[in-house]
Amino acid sequence: MELVEIMEAFIHGIPKAELHIHIEGALEPELMLELAAKNGVALPFASVAEVRQAYDFKDLQSFLDIYYQGARVLVVEDDFFRLTRQYLQKAAEQNVRHTEIFFDPQTHTARGIKFETVVSGIHRALADVGRQLGLSGRLIMCFLRDLSVAEAMATLEEARDFQAMIAGVGLDSSEVGFPPENFGPVFDRARQWGFKTVAHAGEEGPPTYIWQALERLKVDRIDHGIRCLEDAALVAYLADKQIPITVCPLSNVRLKVFDSMKQHNLMQMLASKLCVTVNSDDPAYFGGYIEENFLELHRAQGLGAEDVVMLARNAFNASFLDPVAKQQYLSEIDDFVSARPGPGSLPGCGTQALSA
Ligand code: ADE
Ligand code: ZN
Repeated sequence: MELVEIMEAFIHGIPKAELHIHIEGALEPELMLELAAKNGVALPFASVAEVRQAYDFKDLQSFLDIYYQGARVLVVEDDFFRLTRQYLQKAAEQNVRHTEIFFDPQTHTARGIKFETVVSGIHRALADVGRQLGLSGRLIMCFLRDLSVAEAMATLEEARDFQAMIAGVGLDSSEVGFPPENFGPVFDRARQWGFKTVAHAGEEGPPTYIWQALERLKVDRIDHGIRCLEDAALVAYLADKQIPITVCPLSNVRLKVFDSMKQHNLMQMLASKLCVTVNSDDPAYFGGYIEENFLELHRAQGLGAEDVVMLARNAFNASFLDPVAKQQYLSEIDDFVSARPGPGSLPGCGTQALSA
């Protein structure tokens, strides 16, 4: 096998956890058009090619406008089930062993869809299809930060009856102008009720938003967080506390946070000893699932096998799994690495990391 093929096989095969995937962002154009026709939802696209042509984003907001439009085709419980099943099948093909899935209930309840319809369709797929595919999962309910704090609080109240199905809460949608601290009271209550907490911060917004997510929302993880490198004190804090950061490289390039994958700062984040993970964000819109994110980083930045092992381990460690399950998955990574050819044949792969 050529070196390139060895590395591609390594990226494909290593057991992975995904911690930043919006289920509405896994809606492939084919399913979007099929559900639109079934549910009688009008879309401004006549074909899959036309849908894909519209995926030329200039920033986060231009993407969100299309993403919210696409989500309107999801109407009944089975639509949410099928969407989630399709994502899980794709994830399992790429050796994702554990996934923590975001969903945006307000996008749907604002259209008159019941909260229960959304959560039970997604959860049923996670439980049934996840089991069949040997993949564990959790759900994280996101509040839309461009809507009011009162609406977020009402959504949290609705989630209480479904707490057995929802592991955590997060914060997403348009970032600039909607600082995390606004949502302090909502996150206080969510933590009191036992939800884990995460927040998108520092995707397009400034490092101060990351500080607010940490200090006011007291989040367990930061989503995106790429602008942290602009603030040395923040980097030192994130590294010291090993706060997990769920980075989504293809998303950042497609939303023009970086001009190209060569400019992405993930390698600098790793060099700064941050607890970084690699994720897909909205794979149907950004040209790839988790494996393509790793592959693009390898091609553009020379991400090596040692880095891939570190990123995969970080993701399981940063997950909301219990310690025993984490250890089982980490052992799967160890077994996978020790069954590979010797370290010399893996580009960028030092003996230390492989035998550690
Ligand atoms: N919702 C879906 N994808 C998102 C992203 N990348 N940032 C903020 N909100 C989102
Ligand atoms: Zn996201």
